[in-house]
Amino acid sequence: MIDKIEAAKREFDHDADAVGDERALESFRVKFLSRNGIISKLFDEMKAAPNEEKPALGKALNQFRKGAEEKFTALEEKLQSDGEEDAVDLSLPGEPAFVGGKHILTQTIDSIKDIFKRMGFSVYEGPELESDYHNFEALNFPPDHPARDEQDTYFVNDKFLLRTHTSPVQIRLMQSTKPPVRAIMPGKVYRNEAINARSMNHFYQVEGLHVDTDVTFADLKSALMRFAAEFYGENSRYRFRASFFPFTEPSAEMDISCFLCGGEGCRVCKHTGWLEILGCGMVDPNVLKAVGYDPDVYSGYAFGMGVDRTALMRYAVPDIRVLYENDIRFLRQF
Ligand code: DAH
Repeated sequence: MIDKIEAAKREFDHDADAVGDERALESFRVKFLSRNGIISKLFDEMKAAPNEEKPALGKALNQFRKGAEEKFTALEEKLQSDGEEDAVDLSLPGEPAFVGGKHILTQTIDSIKDIFKRMGFSVYEGPELESDYHNFEALNFPPDHPARDEQDTYFVNDKFLLRTHTSPVQIRLMQSTKPPVRAIMPGKVYRNEAINARSMNHFYQVEGLHVDTDVTFADLKSALMRFAAEFYGENSRYRFRASFFPFTEPSAEMDISCFLCGGEGCRVCKHTGWLEILGCGMVDPNVLKAVGYDPDVYSGYAFGMGVDRTALMRYAVPDIRVLYENDIRFLRQF
C-alpha cells in the first residue's frame, strides 16, 4: 500500500508539471482531488489495510492530500496571474483614437474671425431669441414697414422672435459700450423659409461694425477689400453695387469675381462671373440715435455676410442641407 501511495505521488508531481491552462488544471483536480479521485480512493483502500499499518498509512495519505491541495492552489494562482500579465501587454501598439474635428462652418467662422481680429476687430455675441425692438425697430425698420417682409420671421409672441439676422447684436453692442466700437458678431439666425438645396430655415451670419469719429465709406471699402483679398485670394476682383437696408445709408452689396471660373462665368456664379458675398453700408443716423450715440459726432459702417453659402462656395458643396445633417462621412472631409 505504501508503494502505491508513493507511485500516486510521483504521478501527481508529473501531472502537476504538465498543467498549462485552466482546463488542464480542472482535469488534474478531478483526477487527484475530487470525491472519486485517486486520493479519495487511497483513503477507501486504507480501510481494508491491517489495523497496525493504519496509523502510518493515514499519516502518509494526510500529508499527500495536504501537499496536493497546496500545490493545486499554487497552480491556480499562477494561472490567474499569468492571465493578468497577458491582459496588459504594454508592448502592443495602441488602438488609434478617433479624434473629432471642427465643423466646416466653425472653420469658416474661425478664419473670418482671424482676418478681422488682425485688423483690430473684437468678437461679440448676442442671443438667438431676440426682441422685436432689437431685431427690427432699433434698426430703423418701422412697424409695418415692408422691409420686414423680406425676412420671414419666426415670432415667439408679440415682442419676441428668433433673430432673422445678426444685426441686432450691433444694437446690443452699442447699448453696452461707449464709442469707439469695432467688432464682428458671428451667430445663428432663423428665417421661416422653405428648405431646399439652396436655402435652410436657419443659417449663420457674421456681422461687422465700426463706429468712431470720422469713419467713412473709404474705411468700409478698405476693411472689406482687405478681408476679401485674405479670404478669397489676393487676385480676386470685387465690386460694390448700390442697395438698400433700413439700418444703413448709403447701402451696398459687395460681389467678388467668381473664384471658380475667375469671372468667365460658370455654374457656381450662375454665368455672371460674380458672387454676392455681403451687404454693407454707413450706419443710419437713426440707428445711432436709437442707441444714444450722437450722429453729429460719430459715424460708422456695418456689414453682414452669410457664412453657409461662403463655406459651400469655398468647397464647391452643392447642397446647404448637408451642413446640418451631421453625416460623419461628409464632415470628415474637412
Ligand atoms: N442684416 C442683413 C441681412 O440679414 C445683412 C446686412 C446688410 C448687415 C447690411 C449689415 C449691413 O450690417 O450693413 O440680410
